[in-house]
Amino acid sequence: MAKRIPLVAGNWKMYKTPAEAGNFTRKLLEKFPENSSVEVIVCPPFPAIPAVALKLAESRIGWGAQNMHWEAEGAYTGEVSPPMLQALGCRYVILGHSERRIHFNETDEQIRKKMKAALSYGLRPIFCVGEDLATRDAGDAEFFCRHQLDAALMDLPWSNPEALVIAYEPIWAIGTGRTAEPADAVAMISQLRDRISSWHGAEFADRVRILYGGSVKPDSIASFMEEEQVDGVLVGGASLNLDSFIDLVQITAKIKATA
Ligand code: 13P
Repeated sequence: MAKRIPLVAGNWKMYKTPAEAGNFTRKLLEKFPENSSVEVIVCPPFPAIPAVALKLAESRIGWGAQNMHWEAEGAYTGEVSPPMLQALGCRYVILGHSERRIHFNETDEQIRKKMKAALSYGLRPIFCVGEDLATRDAGDAEFFCRHQLDAALMDLPWSNPEALVIAYEPIWAIGTGRTAEPADAVAMISQLRDRISSWHGAEFADRVRILYGGSVKPDSIASFMEEEQVDGVLVGGASLNLDSFIDLVQITAKIKATA
């Protein structure tokens, strides 16, 4: 079985000005465990990316964006393109986050175009799937998330499994303080991996990292990281605070190192 590098990704959402982001990043570097076996990235809002990139350029911490348009350029007021993110050194881009789907009406079709653009520009997507509470209560969560995966990814010529990251983020767990049961996250992640395996083969699927997201905090992360199928976390609130973010990295490193 492939050894997948654990990933702790901070999604800062619409928090932190460039100055705040620069300060946070400077302190993060001071406290960051040097020989951590965990990959760590932060995804600031667009205007803060240059400040973060400047600080992290020589470090092992990466950075990404929270969204992008699929076209390289054009008359799309308010949008940001894949080459623009490349020019800022972004390695990752979060795509299909439920907040984009819910508040900005992003459709499966648009998300698929963004996934294609990420593929052609060499940006690593952190592609999000997740069901709402009514769907989970109806017993349809796995079907629903599999459909989101199919819509975004099926038949895309993905050749590098390491460049594909998926995040299972149940909507009812985001920002609510309520996490999924680790067993439910594992069941979901396993079926997503099986689906990828049916397209690209087991060896490929075995190398794709699939994260959990939704109210992950230092006191809840261990129960997810102890699961072999969970390759890391996508964290909102707890990534905004330096101490809790460092704790998340350290707890992940400790558990995954001995796994
Ligand atoms: P919280 O960690 O604040 O619940 O946010 C999760 C999330 O949406 C990360 O993308």
